[in-house]
Amino acid sequence: MTLRAVVKGVGHYLPDRVVPNAEFESLVDTSDEWIRSRSGIERRHFAAEGQTTSDLAARAARAALADAGLDPDDIDAVIVATSTADLTFPSAATMVQAALGMTRGFAFDVQAVCAGFVYGLANANALIVSGQARRVLVIGAETFSRLMDWTDRGTCVLFGDGAGALILEAAESAGSIDDRGILSVDLHSDGRHKNILYVDGGVSTGTTGHLRMEGREVFRHAVEKLAETAHAALDKIGLSGADVDWIVPHQANIRIIEATAKRMQVPMDRVVVTVQDHGNTSAASIPLALSVGRSRGQILPGNLVVTEAIGGGLAWGAVVLRW
Ligand code: ACO
Repeated sequence: MTLRAVVKGVGHYLPDRVVPNAEFESLVDTSDEWIRSRSGIERRHFAAEGQTTSDLAARAARAALADAGLDPDDIDAVIVATSTADLTFPSAATMVQAALGMTRGFAFDVQAVCAGFVYGLANANALIVSGQARRVLVIGAETFSRLMDWTDRGTCVLFGDGAGALILEAAESAGSIDDRGILSVDLHSDGRHKNILYVDGGVSTGTTGHLRMEGREVFRHAVEKLAETAHAALDKIGLSGADVDWIVPHQANIRIIEATAKRMQVPMDRVVVTVQDHGNTSAASIPLALSVGRSRGQILPGNLVVTEAIGGGLAWGAVVLRW
């Protein structure tokens, strides 16, 4: 028997304010039609003034705890995947720990931008299979609206705020690919591509900074690398696109999602798509899509799910799990 990290609960939170594409028409030279046709985005949520990433994360965490029927002190570790933590330190994860009223366990952030949730799942899986934690709360939470340059039409129309959370629990398993839990992980990064996607602020500048992106270049890398990493993760366990029930991709652009599905030979009716409603919420996009996909009745127990993401770094990767 081996230890597997099995999904025990899922939940999400989206801020109240919904911003349709049309709102950007008075801000920059753009149109609802351009944003829809180039990205698939129709609307996104923006956090209220004073509402922070850890606030969104704690709400998503409470939803996942309720779904799992667990109390905060049943959790051994909290991992928050984010690039928009409230403060430089402490971590958003320790703030979530306090907000939930947790009096035990440990908490830390993972920073791999849009790939953050995939990296968070990989860390949670490692903690569980090595016996260091029995239950891990993995959260993706972002307030990317705080990083926007509102004069840059190439970026400000693409991002949104939100949070999603997943609880993983250790379970004894025979170790077959038919058993529930995380089955394989594939992670990569390549720091040589820093200049095509970054924030021009931080401790070195004394400012928060704004997101800068060469969209066309990121697009090119995304289409190539996402299918590659998803294939590699499936290949490690002897599976292929034909075995996949659901791709739950990072939600950056519908054209990237479609191109990746095509390369994996998975039809679009087996892809969970939320980009139209959320925009790109960076590390929050996959757990948001998992939670929405589950509540839509798309993702069912026993389904083979592939999550894949790419973001600043570049950092990318995929996780295959049986729900
Ligand atoms: N409205 C109208 N026109 C615009 C807008 C806008 N909002 N933004 C750009 N344009 C213009 C450009 O200026 C350009 O005009 P030009 O030809 O006169 O120079 C034209 O539209 C085409 O621009 P492209 O950048 O080539 O447009 P493209 O079809 O590539 O779409 C997009 C742009 C949506 C950004 C796309 O490249 C993309 O999705 N890239 C990947 C983004 C991504 O995946 N990010 C994931 C990681 S995010 C993270 O890690 C934080």
